Amino acid sequence: MKVSLIHGPNLNLLGQREAEFYGRESFDDINRRIKQYGQDRGIEVRIFQSNHEGEIIDAIQDARIWADAIVINPAAYTHYSYAIRDALTAARLPAVEVHISNIHAREEFRRHSVISPVVAGQIVGMGPFGYLLALDAVQFLVEQSHR
Ligand code: DQA
Repeated sequence: MKVSLIHGPNLNLLGQREAEFYGRESFDDINRRIKQYGQDRGIEVRIFQSNHEGEIIDAIQDARIWADAIVINPAAYTHYSYAIRDALTAARLPAVEVHISNIHAREEFRRHSVISPVVAGQIVGMGPFGYLLALDAVQFLVEQSHR
């Protein structure tokens, strides 16, 4: 099984940015942990990060061709990118949205996701562990769809 895992803007700064929300683990260490977790479960995880909306859309469109599922943390785009939302709809792949912090316990504008209506589900507030939970979730979704 192949998963496209997409990190949105500023997530490359994990470990250096607002540790009270996002923890101290570095972006590279988080990605290593994600890859290892996938490998242990027979999931090939290709990880992509961009600070640019169009590049994230391109990555979603590419995933249509090679991936079985998408895990995405759209970061601040979560709250207003209809273009990313439309790309996810067009991809027609099982997708799970991840937020490291609990977006419901922060500023009002973070409570609303324009992405969540078009994905299977959302994992929030579990720190970087949420990415691992999301891999389990998409594996479950893909297996279920093959039954
Ligand atoms: C985030 C939450 C967003 O509101 C924020 O803009 C981010 C990260 C999270 O993972 O908690 O950059 O998606």
